[in-house]
Amino acid sequence: MVFMITIATFLLASAAALAPRTPQAPSILKDPPPYTNPPTSCPEAASRLSVPDGPHANYFYSDCHQSVHVIVTSPRSGDKLSVVKPRLLVAWPAGNSGAFAQFESGSGQAGSLSVTAKSDGSKSGEAFDPIYEAGSGGNPRVGVTSVLHFNDSAILAVPILGSIRSLREFAEGGKIDQAFQDSFGFLQYTDGSASIDRLWFDGVTKSTMHFTPLNGAQTITINRGEKWTLGFGQGDYKVEVSYNYPQLDQLSPQEVLADAAKPLLSQNPDLTTSLAFLSYKNKLLAGTWRFLTYFGRDSMISMLLMQDILSHDAIEAVIAAVVERINHNDGTVCHEEVLGDYASYLNKKEGIISAEPRCDYKMVDTDFLLPIAMQRYFLDTKPGQQNAKAFFEKVATFLPENKGWTYTRLAQVTAEKIMRIAAPFANSQTKENLISLRNGEMVGQWRDSNYGLGGGRTPYDVNTALVPAGLRAIAALSRAGFFPDHPDWKDLADKQANIWEDETLRFFEINVSESDAKARVREYVLTSRLGIDTNADTITGDVKYYGLALGGSINSGGPVPVMNTDDCFRHFFLNTTHQEQLSSFLSQTADHILQPFPAGLSTDVGLVVANPAYATDADFRNMFAQGEYHGTVVWSWQLAMMGAGLGRQLGRCTGDNHPEFCTNKDLHSKVLSAYNRLWDTIDANRAQLSHEVWSWSYDGSKFKAVPLGAITSTESNVRQLWSLTFLAVHREKF
Ligand SMILES: *[C@@H]1O[C@H](CO)[C@@H](O)[C@H](O)[C@H]1NC(C)=O
Ligand SMILES: *[C@@H]1O[C@H](CO)[C@@H](O)[C@H](O)[C@H]1NC(C)=O
Ligand SMILES: *[C@@H]1O[C@H](CO)[C@@H](O)[C@H](O)[C@H]1NC(C)=O
Repeated sequence: MVFMITIATFLLASAAALAPRTPQAPSILKDPPPYTNPPTSCPEAASRLSVPDGPHANYFYSDCHQSVHVIVTSPRSGDKLSVVKPRLLVAWPAGNSGAFAQFESGSGQAGSLSVTAKSDGSKSGEAFDPIYEAGSGGNPRVGVTSVLHFNDSAILAVPILGSIRSLREFAEGGKIDQAFQDSFGFLQYTDGSASIDRLWFDGVTKSTMHFTPLNGAQTITINRGEKWTLGFGQGDYKVEVSYNYPQLDQLSPQEVLADAAKPLLSQNPDLTTSLAFLSYKNKLLAGTWRFLTYFGRDSMISMLLMQDILSHDAIEAVIAAVVERINHNDGTVCHEEVLGDYASYLNKKEGIISAEPRCDYKMVDTDFLLPIAMQRYFLDTKPGQQNAKAFFEKVATFLPENKGWTYTRLAQVTAEKIMRIAAPFANSQTKENLISLRNGEMVGQWRDSNYGLGGGRTPYDVNTALVPAGLRAIAALSRAGFFPDHPDWKDLADKQANIWEDETLRFFEINVSESDAKARVREYVLTSRLGIDTNADTITGDVKYYGLALGGSINSGGPVPVMNTDDCFRHFFLNTTHQEQLSSFLSQTADHILQPFPAGLSTDVGLVVANPAYATDADFRNMFAQGEYHGTVVWSWQLAMMGAGLGRQLGRCTGDNHPEFCTNKDLHSKVLSAYNRLWDTIDANRAQLSHEVWSWSYDGSKFKAVPLGAITSTESNVRQLWSLTFLAVHREKF
């Protein structure tokens, strides 16, 4: 028998301690989550994957009832205790939902508590097992159970129940809106167990964490301080974490891969399982745990990089998810969807009582990827050609405001936006006519942390690559009969693409004389106390590169002086035809790959995405330190796009109508060396390629990969969709 000793919510803290539990505010919802009723037993075996990652033990589990990612974090000796704290984190793709418990040592001594998960002795023998309870009239309750071992007395100091967005906000900045935290139910039971639950803003979904002492461990106590916490002794506790929210329809590893790519299932079970974990019938997710939901840029770039191995279902899921979420007023493609508890929360803040999903439209790069993705699938492949009609006749159902809009109309609004914003520069090639971040926004493309563009406003990747590539795609689609309202686009878009291809690079160009360049890398290494080689002697001429963006305060509105990997966008997305420009562009990319950081971009652990060595201001350079999300760190997908992009350019040399650089022996051989150097580094870093991003340490002779989350509170996702693209992108023989 279980009886309730006490219950309180933060709001009800003044209620008598033994008062029966007061139900929370009744449902605020006019549109509860749809009811789903999966079979009680799954026809296919569950899929599991365990991935140790420094202090984090990751467990993935999927069956027909749920997909879930569990992380148990426990600091090891040498970990930075201010960032690596003992915790249990459970992340579900459905609703971008999560449950989180941060523990502290009962003795108050940082570093003295370790938490490990072990099998509860059930027949699976796995550290985590699924929970599935068919709902009676509601959604089934799904979750995970395990046995946690504390090697010291422990306090559950911070619970978070609801949305991954709240977890992320807490993990990154320690801030979380009190609205999520003031409605916990704390329950204590006669068997010594205790639970914390929270009813979501939708009034229907409830997340619960329940802990039960095992093997003689101490009864759990509720500490009724200003913030309520749970107290544990040293020992074993059963944990059950669950919620009742409609689950997504996952694509199995079989379903996500094209027929020809099926051998990858046995060659690469880890990556194909990871890919399936992020792939669902109506969308692909960006990564886990932090971005466990739709992101437009991530899913389209991933699709474009690994199109060869994806099934039509997966490709159409990507494009449909994008089209469903277009802002039909101005054509902007959605960056990130907001759904589940966080959507109800944002709606409520605006006085709207609804759990309807929302979208974030602040990015300026994502729009261009849609026509490119459409072209690559619906024009360039047989299945795409066959399915195009049925696909574009579909009617949107996801966002309430798009209901009734056909995919044809939505896609056209985006193309109209691109044609509208590309026209001014096509007509007059001034800096002011380039495309900049939206007013009031600090971010707008993939380097979307506050310092990512070093204060710049007019991004290099968008203007020199994505705009012209988007225009090329619109022209091709128009020639194939798309956008019948605008027959003139078939010529106009190509004409404009030419101008954007040939006339934009020069705005971003930076030259540093050889002597200045040498002095700057020396100063950088010294003042930043990096303890690495300056590699100044590898600088044998003036250094030329293209800045991250224009604008900002650092260079009087000129290019932001940070060498970077964004050249890969032009290499991957464009076959430019201005020969002199193409040759010189390829030449400088090759130099940066061949030259070791900080003279160039190369380290033993990959190309750093930003190298601020050639900037003269030390504070500015610090914005790109090795603990910064878009600093001197390595992003897997940038390696993939650079590898694929240089491969595309070198591939152009095999045709008849090849570019000039192909017959310039020195240049061609330099580009080929850079390509192979890059692939050697990629091959040497297979261990972390499927991670989102990593940093490094230097041992006096070599760079070593270090998880970003070990040095800063911005963690790297252990599995990121666009970091799985090495399943498809590989070294080619030229
Ligand atoms: C718990 O384990 C950690 C890591 O192994 C260790 O540093 C700590 O001293 C242990 N705590 C106790 C109380 O033994
Ligand atoms: C950089 O140098 C090249 C010649 O190597 C020159 O054509 C170009 O105008 C210079 N760019 C800038 C911004 O000074
Ligand atoms: C560039 O040309 C190659 C053939 O040389 C082709 O495979 C590729 O699709 C082209 N890329 C673009 C963006 O047109």
